[in-house]
Amino acid sequence: MSSSTMSATRFLTGITTSGTPHLGNYVGSIRPSVRASLRTDVESFYFLADYHALIKVEEPARIQRSTLEIAASWLAAGLDPERVTFYRQSDIPEIPELTWFLTCVTGKGILNRAHAYKAAVDKNTAAGTDTDADVTAGLFMYPVLMGADILMFNAHKVPVGRDQVQHLEMARDMGNSFNHRYGAHFVLPEVVIEESVATLPGTDGRKMSKSYDNHIPLFAPRAQLKKLIGGIVTDSRAPGEPKDVAGSALFQIFQAFATDEETEVLRQAYTSGISWADAKNMVFERLDRELAPMRERYETLMRDPGAIEDILVAGAVKARRLSAPFMAQLRHAVGLRNLRASTEARAGKTAKAAMPSFKQYRESDGRFHFKLVDAQGRLLLQSQGFASPKDAGAAIGRLQKEGEAAWQAMADQLAVAEGVGSDEVTEALRQLVAASTSS
Ligand code: TRP
Repeated sequence: MSSSTMSATRFLTGITTSGTPHLGNYVGSIRPSVRASLRTDVESFYFLADYHALIKVEEPARIQRSTLEIAASWLAAGLDPERVTFYRQSDIPEIPELTWFLTCVTGKGILNRAHAYKAAVDKNTAAGTDTDADVTAGLFMYPVLMGADILMFNAHKVPVGRDQVQHLEMARDMGNSFNHRYGAHFVLPEVVIEESVATLPGTDGRKMSKSYDNHIPLFAPRAQLKKLIGGIVTDSRAPGEPKDVAGSALFQIFQAFATDEETEVLRQAYTSGISWADAKNMVFERLDRELAPMRERYETLMRDPGAIEDILVAGAVKARRLSAPFMAQLRHAVGLRNLRASTEARAGKTAKAAMPSFKQYRESDGRFHFKLVDAQGRLLLQSQGFASPKDAGAAIGRLQKEGEAAWQAMADQLAVAEGVGSDEVTEALRQLVAASTSS
């Protein structure tokens, strides 16, 4: 196992399945995420937030359609499900379970202050209706479900839009409250805002958004793309008159797809009075050049929903390899325990049954080794030989106390067993650290 995967920073983000991806989603989220997922020093988790979609979409067919379109879009844009963990939120039963645990450590007052809920209340107050009119408990609980999404996989970094910053702060709060009560189980996530990605304007010059109806669907067929680009607002300057790039939605959309040199060419053309028709044509051709190959993959994927279903189900299996054992640990932490285990504990035996453990032994070469095995006894980590049992014991002690950090520091003395993922080792160490801090 290379040390690069061991120290991988875990990125996680969710996409609500309530619409069809548009150019703004591509530039602001899909493209930077797919690029980031190719880095070798990150471990990426992307999921379709379909439980979240239920909060605002009441049409079952639209939820299904959007889930399919978003999955196909990310795959067409180059997301490699072998490389990342790509799953559907509703395939992970541990997420709603964790939502409940977090609900129980979250102050109601904190949720009262969430922007989306507050906006609804303010609107009702202004209209003179009951403060909570038309507000579902789902909208109120939105931040807790989102906190569970993030904390479930111990994500280090969460790339989101600016409007989600408060939700991230709340997720940290929830993680903190839980850790404070039950021991150090959760990593506290950090928000990542892509500063370099300006929001893309829509056809009317305002931010591209479905709710303004000014969006251009990412995989609109060529003819429709041409038509929509043709409809982008411009001013009334005639061909031959110099045009301003500042405030030109057309120019900004071009810039989001073009290289610096290409952008410079269009800037010159604006100055020398290119007609709006020619400028729109340049923009259309440039976008279509990037989008056409992806559009073709998208259309192929959309014709085979079963294949996408299989990809998502396989993604859920991969995700649950982490969430299921982690949830077992959390259940134990809060006191939802096997009664037999507690009887044994009272009888003086510690409830070690469901925990990973270290085994120390001496090899024929006379050196002292240890291994880390999971709760079922499967080999996870194997140490090299130490000169004395004391040295081996010290290394174990450090792993139990510092977990992943110690593993990284001693990476050259520890080999990951064949077929074992670094995430499994990390999870096992996390369990041991949690157990040692809570006892
Ligand atoms: N609330 C996010 C949005 O509207 C979507 C989302 C749900 C999410 N769960 C998440 C994003 C977890 C990041 C992490 O954009």
